[in-house]
Amino acid sequence: MSSTRTLIRGGLVVTAAEETHADVLVEDGRIAALAAHGSTVAEGWTADRTIDAAGRYVVPGGVDAHTHMEMPFGGTFASDTFETGTRAAAWGGTTTIVDFAVQTKGRSLHAGLDAWYAKADGKCAVDYAFHMILSDVTERSLKEMDRLVEEGITSFKLFMAYPGVFYSDDGQILRAMQRSADNGGLIMMHAENGIAIDVLVEQALAAGHTDPRYHGEVRKVLLEAEATHRAIQLARVAGAPLYVVHVSADEAAAEIAAARAKGLPVFGETCPQYLFLSTDDLAEPDFQGAKYVCSTPLRPREHQEALWRGLRTDDLQVVSTDHCPFCFVGQKELGRDDFSKIPNGLPGVEHRMDLLHQAVLDGHISRRRWIEIACAAPARMFGLYPKKGTIAPGADADVVIYDPTVEQTLSAATHHMNVDYSAYEGRRITGQVETVLSRGEVVIDRREYVGRAGHGQYVPRGTCQYLR
Ligand code: URP
Ligand code: ZN
Ligand code: ZN
Repeated sequence: MSSTRTLIRGGLVVTAAEETHADVLVEDGRIAALAAHGSTVAEGWTADRTIDAAGRYVVPGGVDAHTHMEMPFGGTFASDTFETGTRAAAWGGTTTIVDFAVQTKGRSLHAGLDAWYAKADGKCAVDYAFHMILSDVTERSLKEMDRLVEEGITSFKLFMAYPGVFYSDDGQILRAMQRSADNGGLIMMHAENGIAIDVLVEQALAAGHTDPRYHGEVRKVLLEAEATHRAIQLARVAGAPLYVVHVSADEAAAEIAAARAKGLPVFGETCPQYLFLSTDDLAEPDFQGAKYVCSTPLRPREHQEALWRGLRTDDLQVVSTDHCPFCFVGQKELGRDDFSKIPNGLPGVEHRMDLLHQAVLDGHISRRRWIEIACAAPARMFGLYPKKGTIAPGADADVVIYDPTVEQTLSAATHHMNVDYSAYEGRRITGQVETVLSRGEVVIDRREYVGRAGHGQYVPRGTCQYLR
């Protein structure tokens, strides 16, 4: 932790709650105070280091609540390690990730968690926390959930998709929800009807449809909407809250909106890929569409407006990346002759803050909503607020100096993620991260990486703060 005083002068401080022309004093890794530019208080501050933020935004470090560094999937591993992935996160202005520890079938939750603690320990450039993937809902793992909640692992992902891998049936889902209703945990649901999808996969392959675009065709909107509806009903039966991950389809978003209109504690997340990419990308010829294979799949672009609307109306609360990169060469290529063998996942941890800033310029969301969906809401949802997600006295000094005027072109040639392609290759956007502080230490200094592996600390989490 830094024992120095840093002064960030002259910027526009943007949080989810307000925008103020204020100087920010950082001391011992925390925000010490804010005061109006030119005020007697601010003029009286002295510091070891002064950062000039004139003409820039001063925003909280991003909280990406859905990443998969080194995730095992489809016989391979996501290509970003905790070291490379968190460094890329820092480049993109994200200072906290919540990754997913994975339970191996037949083994305890804690064995999985320990493996993920070990993978991340001493490697991360920014702070990190964990959710737990439940792959094997048994009496033993249900009991273990209570202990994990006490330990700061307060959310559990279940899959209605991927039969034989991560899949849980409705009985297992109901049991896990009942447990979370008692222990304060939050169930995160991958809502797709995997049993039905597997039938359609088999039929598509039998008909010779092996191209990546069939990944999108078999993973139907109706099967996302149906699973979302079912998950909501199961959560109601259990009396549990529910967070639906990577919502991609308008009809799934409508299920969440309908539940919320009833006053149910149902929350939804979407991801930049569903807001900016579409089945047009998945249909790229010469197997290039494999770069866009993820689940839930990309949808026709007509779905995007419903997702933007959901983000504006707060029917969707969070934008995470679901960062799960696989190189095109040697990894995505595993599915050259069979789309179902393409490892699922897209790179994105570096671009979330920028793409959402572009959405502000495009008129989809306001500047404060940008910070809410990318910083404050994920922090609240997963028990990290106000340590993370805001700029206020006492908060960790995770701060981004953001230049809203710089133009940049996203490309694999310039990104910092450990993956050989960009899902946004050639896209021109306005706005760029300039300087990043993580707990008061500068990790990106005017577009130069000055951080280090091991600076990032593990952060145990409280329970969902929308339920307290
Ligand atoms: O395609 C995806 N989303 N891969 C990561 C695993 C998951 O389902 O989130
Ligand atoms: Zn998922
Ligand atoms: Zn995921």
